[in-house]
Amino acid sequence: MWFNLDTIVARAKRRGFAYPGSDIYGGLANARDLGPYGTEIKRNIENNRRTYFIQSREDVIWLDSQILMNPKVREASGHVGGFSDPLIDCKKCKSRERADKMIENYVNNKLEKLAKDSKKGSDTYIHAYDEYQKDLNELYWVNNLISESRTFEQQKKFIDWEKIKCGKCWSCDWTEPKKFNLMFKTQQGIVEWEWTDIYLRPETAQGIFVNFKNILDTTRSRIPFGIAQIGKSFRNEITPGNFMFRVREFYQMEIEYFVENNEEVGLKAFEEWKALSKKRRTEEIGIKEDNLKFRDHDKDELSFYSKWTCDVEYLFPRGRGELQGIAYRTDYDLKQHMQFSGKDLQYNDPHTGKRYIPHVIEPSRGLTRAILTTMIDAYDEEKYTDGNGNEASRVVARFHKNVAPIKFAIIPLVKKDEKMVAMARDIFNKLSKNYMVEFDDSGNIGKSYRRQDEIGTPYCITVDHQSLDPKDGTVTLRTRDDMKQIRIKAEDIVF
Ligand code: GAP
Repeated sequence: MWFNLDTIVARAKRRGFAYPGSDIYGGLANARDLGPYGTEIKRNIENNRRTYFIQSREDVIWLDSQILMNPKVREASGHVGGFSDPLIDCKKCKSRERADKMIENYVNNKLEKLAKDSKKGSDTYIHAYDEYQKDLNELYWVNNLISESRTFEQQKKFIDWEKIKCGKCWSCDWTEPKKFNLMFKTQQGIVEWEWTDIYLRPETAQGIFVNFKNILDTTRSRIPFGIAQIGKSFRNEITPGNFMFRVREFYQMEIEYFVENNEEVGLKAFEEWKALSKKRRTEEIGIKEDNLKFRDHDKDELSFYSKWTCDVEYLFPRGRGELQGIAYRTDYDLKQHMQFSGKDLQYNDPHTGKRYIPHVIEPSRGLTRAILTTMIDAYDEEKYTDGNGNEASRVVARFHKNVAPIKFAIIPLVKKDEKMVAMARDIFNKLSKNYMVEFDDSGNIGKSYRRQDEIGTPYCITVDHQSLDPKDGTVTLRTRDDMKQIRIKAEDIVF
């Protein structure tokens, strides 16, 4: 089902998933605060990641490194010299744009228009892609145009070729793209004359590399092994947007998986992480496989240190966008840190006695984007016939049970009936020891069900008159997806 991103944005605020940042001050561009349900989704994805990759494996461990790091780290990682976006100026009105985003918006608008014009039902977007690709012949590939890693020269060539217009003055006369560093810079020190420049981290990964030796010295980790981290990253994006898709402050979930310095071994591990990533995303987080695409980078798209990179893309309402990058980064990062820190970061193989700088596979995923993706993927609008035979409709968030912010809603049918409320409270108290549960005593069962459907609660438990009958003692268990209701004994609910 295809719907507008605005639908998700409006529901996110109305139902407490995400609010505009600094809302009462008129907001801050592209900043979003997670509401109670968004925060729960975040926690659920983090927990699942912990169970899946850390708790149930012997070879991956956690780390929580600092946002502020020695500025030399950013020199070593290449972020000071090379972490930049292509800025392009309109020669006529002097307005400034990000070249790659201008292309992305242009391509997505074009696809959206083609999709709207087409009458291909659920295949609408696939059809739009094919149409546009036909238009472009083999000069450009639609997917690659949306990717952020085109060279500046390729970007300018496409902008001129498609005659992309300035959004302000409608002319089409652009400068060559120039570099703009994306890191937020701040100062460290108490008095102004002692301040030193320091950066907010643009990725969590470097905290892992600089702790590689600490981990080796203090744990039993031996190659192959991985270090995982979840945390905030900051990028002074020039054209953020699309709700929570591109923001300046966001969460990342990264793993650096260290392997032997052997390309065959590295590529095998790379493929394994790709497969794992797909399995977890579809089976554990419940993202529809049809909406995902694993896109290997072309050779000319690869970073100079990367042997292989795959972008995991999701079909967002405004077109495909990157959810995760999986990169085979070779020994680049550890080598750089050895050079800049002067410390030996080589690994001593206890079995062969060989000494080498390990290669690394990096699955790097945006958690903020993951939250957005689950919200989009789960969203559904449905028509059905209600118990009285009338046509009705509902909005339902079909979250996977691992992701759903609330697992059970406990509803006393009559809010003024003390016995009913007490029984419902008792069930709430028991279930809430292990699950996020909501007590909903609004007294309007229809409204309660609709509200719980919209926030994606898999089960509603209703306590009614029958529940109070000592010979019966059953409650109603209603399932979100098919709205079926069964009666079960209150004590049979698994606490
Ligand atoms: N360490 C590698 C790295 O940071 P990246 O492709 O720049 O790679 C990884 O970022 C992921 O972080 C992206 O796939 C995306 O999900 C997320 N991400 C990057 N910039 C973001 C932004 N401005 N807003 C939200 N998420 C972002």
